[in-house]
Amino acid sequence: MSAPNKSYDPVEVEALKPEEIERLRDEALAAFAAAGDLDALQEAKVAHTGGASPLALANREIGALPPHAKAAAGKLVGQARAAVGKALAGRQAELEAERDARVLVEEAVDVTLPYDRVPAGARHPLTTMMERVADVFVSMGYEIAEGPEVEAEWFNFDALNFGPDHPARQMQDTFFVRPAEDGRGAGGAESADGESGVVLRTHTSPVQARALLDRRPPVYVVCPGRVYRTDELDATHTPVFHQIELLAVDEGLTMADLKGTLDHMVRSLFGAGMKTRLRPNFFPFTEPSAEMDMLCYVCRGESVGRPDRPCRTCSSEGWIELGGCGMVNPRVLTACGVDPEKYSGFAFGFGIERMLMFRHNVEDMRDMVEGDVRFTRPFGMEI
Ligand code: PHE
Repeated sequence: MSAPNKSYDPVEVEALKPEEIERLRDEALAAFAAAGDLDALQEAKVAHTGGASPLALANREIGALPPHAKAAAGKLVGQARAAVGKALAGRQAELEAERDARVLVEEAVDVTLPYDRVPAGARHPLTTMMERVADVFVSMGYEIAEGPEVEAEWFNFDALNFGPDHPARQMQDTFFVRPAEDGRGAGGAESADGESGVVLRTHTSPVQARALLDRRPPVYVVCPGRVYRTDELDATHTPVFHQIELLAVDEGLTMADLKGTLDHMVRSLFGAGMKTRLRPNFFPFTEPSAEMDMLCYVCRGESVGRPDRPCRTCSSEGWIELGGCGMVNPRVLTACGVDPEKYSGFAFGFGIERMLMFRHNVEDMRDMVEGDVRFTRPFGMEI
């Protein structure tokens, strides 16, 4: 074994010179002070206190010193490391406090903010109104029937006994669907006037013809749906609107059945005491045909001749016009393969928008098409 190296002078060990230790300490303190956030401080910590840091290396040098030099060097390095550790802990606490304060501000939740300002919608009142009317008939045993909105001209007009020159066929009422350029799509054969033979249905009555062709009598169907006419959108018109159609074909049906059915409907929708009246009219597909009115459900007719008690709903007329009706024209039955000698039928149809307008005092039809939840919400979530 070699003897201890008495001549070893710690002052000569570069890493353990007091100035060097002080410099390392000051460098560490400066780095901690300069660290702007906890990540930077972590880096400074590794650089100045980690296993490979100059102070740790200096500490390791002590072991190689002669015993008499160890104490002084140990004290020197120990104090420096203690100062560094203290500075690190101090800066760490400072930065953590800063972070906590910042997070409290940045991630603060304002519990006083309203939490329910996302406007919940509601089902559209047109939908609920259509279902409500259809339900009256479903509960009487009627079946719901639907047809296409893009309809063959034949179903929309011909089958319903509209002559080829009937004014309703003209462009001002009917949207004709243009034939596809390549001759396919849009619906096939062109009619005599060069159109495609396909229209956007102008009423729900073509469903009558479809229902009769699909079924054997007795037929009891109710047909709610969207229809189209070339009207501009304004307060009282919309080019897309809704109708509900009713058709009953059976043995021995008369106009009394039609009247009774209408009265039942208005009583179900508007309450006891309601009734309807019929005024002569013309529709190609019914004979006889009538315009149907219902008693004004607000004044019940009592505003008539009473200027002191005017009624805004019916303009003091006492009656509100509802739609058209009649006994199914035998020619329609024949066109749909039903024997008019054996069967008779009645039908009626009316607009849902109009009913919504007077039933709920909606003054502008545009409100019904704009999709603003402020319009639909007050009607609630009726299912
Ligand atoms: N389809 C007619 C219209 O749109 C209404 C109607 C239906 C008339 C059924 C008679 C029978 O005006």
